[in-house]
Amino acid sequence: MNQDYIKPDNWSIIEEGFDAERVKSSESLFSIGNGAMGQRANFEESYSGATFQGSYIAGIYYPDKTKVGWWKNGYPEYFAKVLNAPSWIGINVTINGEALDLNACKEVKNFRRELNMKEGWYNRSFEAVLQNGTAVAVNVTRFLSLTEDELGVIKYEVKLVNGSATITYSPYIDAGVTNEDANWEEKFWEPLDVQHEGDSAFVTARTFKTHFTVATYMHNSLFVNEKKQDVTPQNIEIGNDKIQFCYTAEAAQGETAALVKFGGYTVSLNHKESELIDAAKNVIASAQIKRYSTLLEEQKEVWAKIWEMADITIDGDVKAQQGIRFNIFQLNQTYLGKDPRLNIGPKGFTGEKYGGSTYWDTEAYCIPFYMATKDQQVARNLLTYRYNHLEKAIENAAKLGFTNGAALYPMVTMNGEECHNEWEITFEEIHRNGAIAFAIYNYYRFTGDYSYIPEKGLEVLIGIARFWQQRATFSSHKKRYVILGVTGPNEYENNVNNNFYTNYIAKWCIDYAIEQIAKVKSDYNEDYSRIMAKANLNDDEIKQWKKVADNMYFPYSEEHGVYLQQDNFLDKELIPVSELDRSQRPINQKWSWDRILRSCYIKQADVLQGFYFFEDHFSKEQLAKHFDFYEPLTVHESSLSPCVHSIQAAGLGRMEQAYTFYLRTSRLDLDDYNKEVEEGLHITSMAGTWMSIVEGFGGMRVKNDTLHFEPRIPEQWQGYSFKINFRNQILKVSIQQGETKFNLEGDKELTVFVNGKEVKVQPNALVTV
Ligand code: BGC
Repeated sequence: MNQDYIKPDNWSIIEEGFDAERVKSSESLFSIGNGAMGQRANFEESYSGATFQGSYIAGIYYPDKTKVGWWKNGYPEYFAKVLNAPSWIGINVTINGEALDLNACKEVKNFRRELNMKEGWYNRSFEAVLQNGTAVAVNVTRFLSLTEDELGVIKYEVKLVNGSATITYSPYIDAGVTNEDANWEEKFWEPLDVQHEGDSAFVTARTFKTHFTVATYMHNSLFVNEKKQDVTPQNIEIGNDKIQFCYTAEAAQGETAALVKFGGYTVSLNHKESELIDAAKNVIASAQIKRYSTLLEEQKEVWAKIWEMADITIDGDVKAQQGIRFNIFQLNQTYLGKDPRLNIGPKGFTGEKYGGSTYWDTEAYCIPFYMATKDQQVARNLLTYRYNHLEKAIENAAKLGFTNGAALYPMVTMNGEECHNEWEITFEEIHRNGAIAFAIYNYYRFTGDYSYIPEKGLEVLIGIARFWQQRATFSSHKKRYVILGVTGPNEYENNVNNNFYTNYIAKWCIDYAIEQIAKVKSDYNEDYSRIMAKANLNDDEIKQWKKVADNMYFPYSEEHGVYLQQDNFLDKELIPVSELDRSQRPINQKWSWDRILRSCYIKQADVLQGFYFFEDHFSKEQLAKHFDFYEPLTVHESSLSPCVHSIQAAGLGRMEQAYTFYLRTSRLDLDDYNKEVEEGLHITSMAGTWMSIVEGFGGMRVKNDTLHFEPRIPEQWQGYSFKINFRNQILKVSIQQGETKFNLEGDKELTVFVNGKEVKVQPNALVTV
């Protein structure tokens, strides 16, 4: 744990006391989003201290020209940047002529932030004494509407604590923004137009290269003591990419002047370019009718509906409760599944790092959460996203020398093209292909919706199987197929041979594709003929695949009784992490890269990731053996690591360890375990946190179309509960020390297994086991 300033609370994230050192971390932690846009918790008023400014719009990106020391054939031309979008939140405030700036005030008291996750709003309040002696109490509430996803709302209130004052509010919108991580310090936005009308203003700008056009808008209303003032903006400052209004209010001691600002974006992804400003005017008109209070009420209602399905309750452990809700809240702020063109970026709308919007994280970690807490169409949309990128994945493989429709999905993408450019990852971290096939299997296993496979999934499986067959080479020495020069999920080893996880999932992908081809052939003959013709696939080729799958090599140590992470793993000095001095951690911030590569330290589950996906292929004893061998060497410096380990520790009945990993995954950002929260949150691993409760403690699995549970409970908890949308019926599972309760919202009896024992759950009746 690296920080401990967030107050434990069941439903809110709370910070008390102003500390400039914490501003960037809190900007990440208090981020808000509505699936269509999102932003870091930057202050509205000017701030001269250290800050990381960030607003983001879903689907809008910039292809930043690749910058590498030594160009290697096959590198993509660009890295798709999560683009810092024009800012609409800015409101400069002066009090008796002095700018309100928390970094320059004489005194700041009672500073408090609250991110209310239950209702979906963010509030900041403080009292400040300015250098001119005026004391004010400030209270700012902000939210991004879930009902009108192009709308954000701010209510900024200043109350005079002493004397009387002239307060000016200068709200602005600004497209003159840059990315902190721009490779060439270029500007990504080309300003096109600035205009205003009454209390509204619009700045239109277009991204260079990708040509997304965005109208950023604002509308302002001034209130004194809650009474709307009949004033028009003064001193309008117009630049080529920015516009600022000014509103002035006189307030005496105890009086409050407030500015309500509506703002947001209309984008060419969703509107004709010529209609962006009209579309923004429509959003403003509807917001004006509803006003702040109704919009806030609506916000609360939508969040109540989300929580109704997605909430996990934990009794008797506030920090654990706060952790899981924070994770569920952030996932829903990032992706709601409404738009199949979008995906779940590892940093969501909370930072720039990682670029792109889609990693294997989506398939390996996020799909189970969305499958179980939303309509199954949402998970299907996520699968379809990859189907729509199949042609690009085939092109991507062709660039690397593969042929005949072999598909290599990108490590990172926005539009299907690879946009990651470190050779050891772009070219070598090819296991990502496996997760995409696994997600198809997982979707069918959970939802029972086979139709996806003949309609779309099988083509993806064929492209992936072809890739693996071509990527494997026959070793005449080993008399087996080997996969050389890869990076496994553990990115702390590169260019290794026969990474167990990669080889295992490669074999599985081929076997699964062959199985599905046979099934589609027998049950969906028309689809079969269409797909075989389109893919130009025949039985001889399938035989080639099978030869590779049947003869795949897996490195194994007789001495340790474990599969080896890669051929040469045992050449390393195996010194457990517990013997590393704390001052050396995290090693990715303390050690040179070559030292990391030579070390035995594992960034995240690798062999164990294989055991997680393919649990049924191994015995519990094998799992225990591999867990005991690899976990002690694992530094968990990827956010994706603790959740898998928590699930496995729970499955092995090691509850203390499972609980420790649970806290680490669920509070990774709140407590900043990896010392990097100021760069943004780890959104995709948050779905792993959900899995660590439902699959870890709850022991939920789907086997043969039936739900199975092996409920366990950490001794720190009195009880916990979660809901699962299983095949269009909602099952609520409540687990207490010694008993498990099921409650079914649906109309059909549901059979579940609890610790192997059959239980029949009737609709709308409580069953206690
Ligand atoms: C992890 C990858 C992951 C990426 C994005 C990296 O640190 O090692 O497995 O896909 O982050 O979350």
